[in-house]
Amino acid sequence: MSQKIEDSSEFIKISIEIIRQIQDVVPFDVYIERSDGIFTKLFHKRHPIDHEMLRRYHKEKNVANLYVHTGEHKTYRYCVEKILDSALSDIKKLSPEKLTETISEMANLTITEIYLTTEINKKVMEWAGKSITGCITLLGQNPRALLRVIEALKTHQNMLKHSMMTCIFSMLLIKKVGYDSERTLMMLGLGALLHDIGMAMLPFEWEFKPDMTVEQWKQIKEHPQLGYRMLESITSVKQEVRTIVLQHHEQPNGMGYPSNRYGGDIYYLSKVVSIADCFCDKILRHEEDEQSMSLLEALASMREEVGRFDDQLFQHFQKLFGHFKRTKNEEEDIADTATKETDKKNNIDKKDTAA
Ligand SMILES: [Fe+2]
Ligand SMILES: [Fe+2]
Repeated sequence: MSQKIEDSSEFIKISIEIIRQIQDVVPFDVYIERSDGIFTKLFHKRHPIDHEMLRRYHKEKNVANLYVHTGEHKTYRYCVEKILDSALSDIKKLSPEKLTETISEMANLTITEIYLTTEINKKVMEWAGKSITGCITLLGQNPRALLRVIEALKTHQNMLKHSMMTCIFSMLLIKKVGYDSERTLMMLGLGALLHDIGMAMLPFEWEFKPDMTVEQWKQIKEHPQLGYRMLESITSVKQEVRTIVLQHHEQPNGMGYPSNRYGGDIYYLSKVVSIADCFCDKILRHEEDEQSMSLLEALASMREEVGRFDDQLFQHFQKLFGHFKRTKNEEEDIADTATKETDKKNNIDKKDTAA
């Protein structure tokens, strides 16, 4: 337990509370920061946790965070998801505070994953992390509402992750535009987090498939109104948040749904979420298969969709990734993706596949 590692960029900060909830062996190595930048291994992978030692670190030495190696962040995420699933199956297992903390930890992990992929400035990502945690804490003030929301977002595979990512990229975009009002950020963050909540009310298990029936598509396109109505019963969710949910599939060219609104008639924060939503859908959908795109491919594919997004906002969104330089192979891949997208559009009469 004395391995010294001095490169802090190799480590992800994790919550000691999560480790305290592991009853079995720990599936990854757990580190502690002994002094500035000096990490030592506290618990070894596939060994049981010494809970008494953990309690002493937490209560007597006031240690709030432990660390995992970045190479094991997916294993850690799986572990947090299992704790969340177990809490949802038996709500008595976790107090409202611990539920909020577990969900916040999921959000922090999502921030880390985005940081590792996009290399967006670390300080900006830390700011985004605080913002999304603020949204979750706000929802958590009403534990029953938070539970209902999380249960709904867990109805479909990847929806919680998609919602958190959409929230984070919406926050990053509005910051890039220059908005910093606390209230605007909270409304936007909650709206983005809840934008697809209506999907939980669909009468069938939703998963994107090219062979979806016309009737199923019709039902999917009702999810903004379903979400809007569902949120009416949660008093802590304000009207602005519901409007974001209702209008997140509207498009400035009037081709969106549910109301075919044109540019000026669409709520500004919905336009922000629309961009983040589409982007996250492209990079996350079928993460494991070849249909997901790199972030540059996703941006290239979005540029092809003329009129779907607010021009100025989309310009700002692209600047988030201005530090990325494409390799020759990436340029070729992007050109290839754009061609495939155009072919797909010509062949399939379904203009909006994002959920
Ligand atoms: Fe979505
Ligand atoms: Fe949606």
